[in-house]
Amino acid sequence: MVKMIDLNRIYNEDCLEGMKRIPDNSVDCILTDPPYLYLKNQKLDRPFDEIAFFKECKRVLKKDSFIVLFGRGTSFYRWNCILADMGFTFKEEIVWDKGYTTSPLMKVHRTHETVSIHTKGKGTIKKAAIPYLEQKQYDINSIITDIKRLRSCLHNSKNLKAVEDYLTKKIKTIDSTQQPKYVSVSSVINITNRCTAAIKSIEDGMNEKTIIKEVLRRQQSIHPTQKPVRLLERLLNLVCDEGCTVLDPFSGSASTAIACINTKRNYIGFEIDKEYHELSVKRINDLNTCLSPNKTTYRSAPTR
Ligand SMILES: C[S@@+](CC[C@H](N)C(=O)[O-])C[C@H]1O[C@@H](n2cnc3c(N)ncnc32)[C@H](O)[C@@H]1O
Repeated sequence: MVKMIDLNRIYNEDCLEGMKRIPDNSVDCILTDPPYLYLKNQKLDRPFDEIAFFKECKRVLKKDSFIVLFGRGTSFYRWNCILADMGFTFKEEIVWDKGYTTSPLMKVHRTHETVSIHTKGKGTIKKAAIPYLEQKQYDINSIITDIKRLRSCLHNSKNLKAVEDYLTKKIKTIDSTQQPKYVSVSSVINITNRCTAAIKSIEDGMNEKTIIKEVLRRQQSIHPTQKPVRLLERLLNLVCDEGCTVLDPFSGSASTAIACINTKRNYIGFEIDKEYHELSVKRINDLNTCLSPNKTTYRSAPTR
């Protein structure tokens, strides 16, 4: 009998072989970064049977779930067309702003990569609040501008009244048995005033944007095309919930798996290259050791 797949494991295998063991309609999200097919690195840029691959993606995905695809250039446009031809619905395009150039010798410095989000069925992208300071990229000038705007708003008595009403209703929603930091704003509070909306965003976070800036800590990376874990966490929050199962068929350094561990999701990964597979398994084991409750000293922040 063919052995089915284990959750929370990276297989050292060609994804087209491994995916055959994943049951139909069993995966909540595919988040992947396939070989872009323009690098001169043969080890990284192995061509794959694209039609067979996307057919497998469609088979294993649950109805109304998502595929989130990194890419660049001709291959990326082709993959998006293949997905559309197979009946997927395009939902969103995200630009990853790398914050640095990967091509300092080129006439046009490349500082971004593209991500497309498609649904098999009628999935809708989720609202995912990004903490205010993170969304502002800790830019003190931008934060001071917001504070100045807020201060000028509050000189107006109508705005002051709106803020008072907001805070009064908010306080009423706080359950006395809970710490205030665990309370989210009740949907009964209507935010139409600019001042109250600003206060709410500082407290509850801001919606995700189509351009996400996340800088990779290159000194700590183990793979030439490694993606920042926080970027992957933010993408996952748009398409699936805690407890779901995420597949990354081109797992590389297992950044998707690390993002899943940090955000309480299950993962399945495939990485064809033995060396990257070994490094990625070590990366996961190191993180799990750090998070282990039996360990007396562990890092306070999860791996990025
Ligand atoms: C663009 S990299 C992914 C990098 C990854 N997102 C990360 O953050 O580390 C693509 C990876 O897919 C692997 N790969 C290429 N063809 C494959 C195949 N048919 N099955 C599984 N892995 C494959 C390559 O070895 C490479 O590590």
